[in-house]
Amino acid sequence: MKVALGIDIGGSGIKGALVDTKRGMMVTDRYRIPTPRPATPDAVIATVDKIRRHFKYKGAVGVGFPGIVIDGVTHSAVNIHPEWYKFPAEKEIAKATGCDVLVRNDADVAGFAEMRFGAGKRAKGETMIFTLGTGIGCSMFINNVCVPNLEMGHVYLPGHKKDAERYTSDRARKEEKLSWKEWGNRLNEYFQHIEFLFSPQLIIVGGGVSKNSNKFLKYIKINAKIVPAKLLNEAGIIGAAAGAAAGGDCSL
Ligand code: BGC
Repeated sequence: MKVALGIDIGGSGIKGALVDTKRGMMVTDRYRIPTPRPATPDAVIATVDKIRRHFKYKGAVGVGFPGIVIDGVTHSAVNIHPEWYKFPAEKEIAKATGCDVLVRNDADVAGFAEMRFGAGKRAKGETMIFTLGTGIGCSMFINNVCVPNLEMGHVYLPGHKKDAERYTSDRARKEEKLSWKEWGNRLNEYFQHIEFLFSPQLIIVGGGVSKNSNKFLKYIKINAKIVPAKLLNEAGIIGAAAGAAAGGDCSL
């Protein structure tokens, strides 16, 4: 068993667990700390290290981050804090934790976990994975190779004047107190547009709300096969840990 620590930085909570990276399973309970406010790099990194210390862990650490990540440097953080813009996250987290650290976009690592261990196992061609939470995360795999940093939460739907995630994320559902049907209809509009742009063969829908997929997936009328994530909200942690254990190779 090869164990690594996976950490998922989210808009409302920072969560971590030790993961069996061969089997794609958490081997401890998830430990969650609310995201500090303001979520500056210093405050978030201190929280990441607190999670590591909770597990008394030294070794490879994988971190899913809710923004663009290129070569370990964060380039956006819409739902986090502007100080993350062009911030050497991988280097700084490694310094604070004394561990080997991999930082990737949260949806990319969640997608990696679903492709390797979950609903995308054995999928061929083009698969897109969406995480519905505070924002909308998106990753795409072409024959099991990741196309990173897609940022599909920020497309504009025809006739709308704001980012799609402001209208279709799980946060929008909660804040606007939408019924499953109302929200499902918004998702239908969103996924029809995504299908028109990318024509994926398979769409996997993840994020915490995916445990309720039977309540909203039925409103989505597209040609692509659309299924709930198998790893539900654990995909980010599992994928980050598995990517770190693989030395950063998040292509399959
Ligand atoms: C960010 C993405 C992230 C997604 C889910 C969006 O607002 O721009 O990078 O993957 O939220 O956290």
